Amino acid sequence: MKVFVSRKVPGDCLRPLFASGHEIVVSEFDRPLTPSEFLEKAAGSDALITLLSDKIDGEVMDAIGPQLRLISNYAVGFDNINLADATDRGIVVTNTPSDEVNEAVAEHTWALILALARRVVEADESTRRGAYKGWEPGIFLGKSLAGKTLGIIGMGRIGGMVARRAQGFGMNILYNKRSRDEKAERELGVVFSNLDNLYANSDIVSLHVPLTPETHHMINADAFSKMKDGIFLINTARGSVVYEQELVNALRTGKLGGAALDVFDNEPDINPELIAMENVILTPHIASATWEARNKMGNQAVNSVLMLLSGQKPDNIANEEVWEKRRV
Ligand code: DGY
Repeated sequence: MKVFVSRKVPGDCLRPLFASGHEIVVSEFDRPLTPSEFLEKAAGSDALITLLSDKIDGEVMDAIGPQLRLISNYAVGFDNINLADATDRGIVVTNTPSDEVNEAVAEHTWALILALARRVVEADESTRRGAYKGWEPGIFLGKSLAGKTLGIIGMGRIGGMVARRAQGFGMNILYNKRSRDEKAERELGVVFSNLDNLYANSDIVSLHVPLTPETHHMINADAFSKMKDGIFLINTARGSVVYEQELVNALRTGKLGGAALDVFDNEPDINPELIAMENVILTPHIASATWEARNKMGNQAVNSVLMLLSGQKPDNIANEEVWEKRRV
């Protein structure tokens, strides 16, 4: 059977695939494929290992062929795949959630919070440029975290790990989720809040929701208008949860004190105004980029392929309802 891997991944997690006896085709380019390159290589595949930069809808699935049975997405998010189209066609979609990825994203979220609050990137840039002339009372004053309020939108595994770390910094924690999470409240000391209250009372807002039609551009001009002045926004979730142009406006007017973004509305493009702003930290979608997380993601993505092609049910099926009517 043919398995197409749309890009080389770190580590040696592909080794069991090559040992499996299936025909394994790995893209020879170390970059995202164009849609036509993707189709050309993927045509005739029984299973795909895809990245979040591969946009896959029903048309692409049909062009790959009726033998396509599995899309194993090397990511936790699967907003790059039209899940309903896959389910309609009996194609199983899997993803790669794990503690390793959750920890990595929570740690990166904290790297961004600390860097923004203590102006680490600006200070580093200024020091390298030779601007440091000795201790000064007023350079690079930042904001303390102790006693401040962190507003977490999305209290899943990552949101919970971010909250646990916030306890260590002596912060108050508000959270918003579709329904109250009493276990998180007991274990993490977090307080449920509706969004308006969270916006009005948080000093830092951190996003941990998946991208869905409901969360698309949920952080927009209306949300910014309800936020406390000078708030920091952290996004390690998905870029399109934030309406990027309205974020730029809120930063420009000083309504927002700063933003740290790992993800963007239209990746890999970034609004040039964000790039020019000193109170904005930008990282290139690397929140899960630890060896531990990427090895785990690779192993999970490969296992899903090996399990499905040997007739077993893979872990982490994103469209569980497909199983009874999957293609065989
Ligand atoms: C994910 O897994 O969804 C991350 O955004 C990429 O690692």
